[in-house]
Amino acid sequence: MTYITSQTEAALAAIAAADSLDALEAERLETLGKKGWVSLALKTLGGMTPEERTAAAPAIQSARTAIADALDAKKTALEAAELEARLEQERIDLTLPALAAPRGSVHPVSQVMDELAEIFADLGFAVATGPEIEDDWHNFTALNMDETHPARAMHDTFYFPDKTADGKDILLRTHTSPVQIRSMLDQGAPIRIIAPGRVYRSDSDATHTPMFHQVEGLVIDKDIHLGHLKWTLETFFKAFFEREDIVLRLRPSYFPFTEPSVEVDVGYSTEGGRRIVGGHGDANGHAWMEIGGSGMVNARVLEFAGVDPAEYQGFAFGLGIDRIAMLKYGMNDLRAFFDGDPRWLAHYGFSPFDQPTLSAGVGARA
Ligand code: DAH
Repeated sequence: MTYITSQTEAALAAIAAADSLDALEAERLETLGKKGWVSLALKTLGGMTPEERTAAAPAIQSARTAIADALDAKKTALEAAELEARLEQERIDLTLPALAAPRGSVHPVSQVMDELAEIFADLGFAVATGPEIEDDWHNFTALNMDETHPARAMHDTFYFPDKTADGKDILLRTHTSPVQIRSMLDQGAPIRIIAPGRVYRSDSDATHTPMFHQVEGLVIDKDIHLGHLKWTLETFFKAFFEREDIVLRLRPSYFPFTEPSVEVDVGYSTEGGRRIVGGHGDANGHAWMEIGGSGMVNARVLEFAGVDPAEYQGFAFGLGIDRIAMLKYGMNDLRAFFDGDPRWLAHYGFSPFDQPTLSAGVGARA
């Protein structure tokens, strides 16, 4: 009996002193393992007379329970300590400056899109989106360009070989104008949205890339007229270029989805080979540059989009984002926008901390 008691005390002391899970496991094998002394002692019970067994069993059983409990408790404690040590070792100090992190930058197109959203939000416009893979109904038909309309041919459209379930052609949208239709069908009138995004045309040279960016604008309400359009664009461009001397010229034009239609030119001058927006295009040394199309939304388009033209009217515009980005930030080759050259991005890109805000200035460069 004293033998078992002293063995148990020794085992409990060894368990308490174990400083690793391995040391603890060794102690478990020595006691409760198949060949451990507790297991062997339990086996001797089988060879005893009932009286002997009644006398010997309680001590052995309680030794087994005490040792098993101690092993369990110590295992839990050691595991917790091990986890604690690992967490301590793998700790990352997130307050350290990320100097070693690779440096990326915000592409000027993304920056300009954020600037647009910020300025137009202030004028009460929401940002709308639509799919880049469109069907020909939204991209053409509902914009008053039926199958035989010559303007369709001018769009250099990328078509997919498949058709929609109801037999419409599937294409890459050639302009952001289909978002007008989708937004009116979704929300009805009145409506005030801009829709910036990618558009695609099979066309490529120094000033054209197969993918480029546009921003669409749409305002539908009662009593909207061309004066609202001109004020809106002028107000936008003044905020965008951060100068008061922006002069716009609206030139009569034709788009199937607007009536009347106008092309929008902005006055600029040239300094050291760089175009500087501002001033009257007819002033000495100044000229006009086309920056987009617009007009009063054609009544047919309103009908296609489920809006009653007897009650509502409005204006729409479409601007080339890449072009106004080039003008604002002084780049001269559109193709560099899409080359992904890190040197170009390091030069023209923006810090993620350069969030455009109206109060800090939408064009602020850190
Ligand atoms: N969708 C036209 C294009 O890509 C641009 C445009 C012109 C949009 C007039 C408009 C508009 O909303 O009113 O060439």
